[in-house]
Amino acid sequence: MDTKKLFNRKSLNYKVELSNGKKVEYVNLDNAATTTPLLNVEEGVIQELQEYGSVHRGAGIKSQISTKKFEDTRETIKKFVNARKEDYAVFVPNTTVGMNQLAYFFANIKGKIMVSDIEHSSSFLPWIFQEGRHQNSFQVSLNDALKNNTNGLNNKIMNLGRKKVITYKTKEDFTFDLASVEKIFSEQDKKGEDEKIKVLVVTGASNVTGYKPPIKELAKIAHNYGALIVVDACQLLQHEKIDMIKQDVDFVVFSGHKMYAPFGSGAIVGNKNILDAFWPYQMGGGNFPYITSKGEVLRYKNVQAHDPGTPNFVGARSLYYSIKELDKIGVDKISTYEHSLVEKAYSELGKIKEVVLYVKRNKRGVMDTSLITFNIKHFPCLLVAEILNDEYGIGTRAGSYCVYEFSRRILNIKSDKEIIKAVKEGKTCLIPGSVRASFSLVNKEDDIERLVRAISEIAKKGVKYYLKKYSHNNITGEYRRKYYGNN
Ligand SMILES: Cc1ncc(COP(=O)(O)O)c(C=O)c1O
Repeated sequence: MDTKKLFNRKSLNYKVELSNGKKVEYVNLDNAATTTPLLNVEEGVIQELQEYGSVHRGAGIKSQISTKKFEDTRETIKKFVNARKEDYAVFVPNTTVGMNQLAYFFANIKGKIMVSDIEHSSSFLPWIFQEGRHQNSFQVSLNDALKNNTNGLNNKIMNLGRKKVITYKTKEDFTFDLASVEKIFSEQDKKGEDEKIKVLVVTGASNVTGYKPPIKELAKIAHNYGALIVVDACQLLQHEKIDMIKQDVDFVVFSGHKMYAPFGSGAIVGNKNILDAFWPYQMGGGNFPYITSKGEVLRYKNVQAHDPGTPNFVGARSLYYSIKELDKIGVDKISTYEHSLVEKAYSELGKIKEVVLYVKRNKRGVMDTSLITFNIKHFPCLLVAEILNDEYGIGTRAGSYCVYEFSRRILNIKSDKEIIKAVKEGKTCLIPGSVRASFSLVNKEDDIERLVRAISEIAKKGVKYYLKKYSHNNITGEYRRKYYGNN
């Protein structure tokens, strides 16, 4: 697949200087974090800036044009995920804010939240926080806040919130077992209204293994017990279609910057009644038609009530253009292309005996993920990513990617006492992790060859060589002290 034409040539040919002074073309293998914008997004947005005016606020022609385009984008988004006619598409800056927004609404409703242990922090912390905040009635004085005497309040919120969120433990290979999911629903259901699960939050595709949970089946279980399902689709939509009607999904949340649309755009698409049921997540100008002389806030139950302040027009339009292009190419074609790159990387990296891979082929023997997580034995993951960048011009991501349980389990960490101590001392070096190479339309076969060559050379030279060479680095310094003593 020739994907060169899809991107700005300058961004594709971006050169970086290596630590030896040589200049090479940058290889972006960090697409699961953020994708490179598509050329049509760039061109479309630049052109629209010329007729850009205030959204929802002006009578002038530019305002009318911008408002119409902004509103039309909601329909484009809804079509992309095959939402129900009545569903809302609410613009949010990213998945994190979208999840906080949904968690805020659901905190007004009795019952518990269920998340899995492979969720990104952005898909479970908001639920703990909003649930905890909703139940907490304790306040501190202004003086205490100024003096930072707020631990009591903060701990109380999180402790209350944790009690409201049930974590589903995935199987050893980080996949779902539907029978055990159902068992939790059934057990909670028997305990009464305060204990029954009201929402199941699940990732559409894991950002650590690429695994795609069975959304339709999970939705069926949730609905059988009177709960709703929220899908964190931010690692999914750029690789695979979601069909909200066929899969019976109540909400999807996603970030545009992971699907080739920059400018802080994303969306919550879903159930209008829940979004209408409570005051909007954020209040201000733009949400309401009128405030009476007595201070009563009059509200229309419409999607615009969820647009506090001046909306991000450019962000919305970048989503519009990226969706147009993804639809034109075909998301299926994109994932076939990415899977072929991942297959090559997986089989080549698998030949390097020092490499431990944390992804695998599916039951049909096919690599159906767009990312690979791995470690080189004895190497701190952060060091590997640093070497890849400094000496090879390859951008990856290393660490926990906000899914700490995954890192603890792959590295068999039974107690995190030492990690906690280090973090409390301000050192993050002992936080366990791995290296993630994630692929998108921007990549080509040559990128895999460079990655494999680099990993093979790094593994051959061995960790001691690099710990010496990178001794300036506090991260590796701490690591060295823990694992290799001071020499
Ligand atoms: C699965 C998953 N959920 C949520 C997020 C948070 O997305 P954002 O940073 O755009 O809010 C990420 C980001 O990496 C993710 O991978």
